[in-house]
Amino acid sequence: MPLNLYDLNFNKGVCVLMFGRIAVVTGANKGIGFEIVRQLAAAGVVVVLTARDEQRGVEATSKLHNLGLSNVVFHQVDVTNINSITLLVHFIKAKFGRLDILINNAGASGMEVDEEGLRALHIDPATWISGKAVNLVQGVMKTTYEKAEECFNTNYYGTKSVTEALLPLLKLSTTSSRIVNISSLRGELWRIPSDQIRSEFANIESLTEERIHEILQNFLQDVKQNTLIKNGWPLMLPAYGISKTALNAYTRLLARKYPKMYINCVHPGYVNTDLAWHTGPMSPEDGAKAPVRLALLSDDGPTGCYFEQMKVASF
Ligand SMILES: NC(=O)c1ccc[n+]([C@@H]2O[C@H](COP(=O)([O-])OP(=O)(O)OC[C@H]3O[C@@H](n4cnc5c(N)ncnc54)[C@H](OP(=O)(O)O)[C@@H]3O)[C@@H](O)[C@H]2O)c1
Repeated sequence: MPLNLYDLNFNKGVCVLMFGRIAVVTGANKGIGFEIVRQLAAAGVVVVLTARDEQRGVEATSKLHNLGLSNVVFHQVDVTNINSITLLVHFIKAKFGRLDILINNAGASGMEVDEEGLRALHIDPATWISGKAVNLVQGVMKTTYEKAEECFNTNYYGTKSVTEALLPLLKLSTTSSRIVNISSLRGELWRIPSDQIRSEFANIESLTEERIHEILQNFLQDVKQNTLIKNGWPLMLPAYGISKTALNAYTRLLARKYPKMYINCVHPGYVNTDLAWHTGPMSPEDGAKAPVRLALLSDDGPTGCYFEQMKVASF
């Protein structure tokens, strides 16, 4: 197994232009998604920039056109709205007849946050990433049922709906298609205190999508009953973490089901975006690098893997 994306071959601009690849990026009006679109388009890929808000999406697309990237087109998609996903599928089918790259980037944090209060804590990135800030943030971050549900609907169920709808077009790709799921280190298994939940997610031979759904519903029940700690869920960004654990597991199941495609998930880094309440030290430009690299990997690259930025890591 290759350990580092820098060591692997990937298709640079000229090669990509030859193939005329078509990509879709969700939640791309800002942050890491916007940068992914910019970098893919700069490499010659025709990119469908999608956003749930029409105006924000059109403005983001105009920004890229003003940079000379005329190979970006906009289409509205709310990943929690199946009608908007269906319209995207019709659009791509009519315009391109196939899809080569899908980047599932849209995300929600699952928390109610006092942003100013959080930033005033000046938590250093190492403490934040390790999860040791959990006690510090109790006064400024709260998991509510509504936020947890929104987070699951976006990060897991939304990604699944978009992927399932686009799979028939991905199967028509003339190159082997790529799916890149934007995950997070919050979803790493070692962060889950419960042995049982951890081992269910880890045991990919027996895990099913039905079981993932049941586990997520159990989590929501525990939010309602205030029993997250008792039942061994993570304490730091719990809904967000579990949504990404589920996403990673789905990535593995999908990669097993479609061995001819290249399907991976990646933690982009701790990035300065709205979703991270502008606490992250990395720029969106740097955060987009590993996802873009995975999208442009040449045939013979890895599949069914989790990357922590450029490096293959344990689930
Ligand atoms: N920033 C980090 O440190 C970090 C670390 C690890 C992983 N990630 C992941 O990176 C991805 C991008 O996040 P970001 O940091 O770039 O945050 P961001 O700038 O806040 O971007 C999030 C994007 O998702 C969109 N979105 C939310 N719900 C949506 C829905 N239902 N349908 C379609 N789009 C929706 C947002 O649209 P609106 O503008 O309309 O809200 C926005 O475009 C997420 O999956 C996140 O979990 C980020």
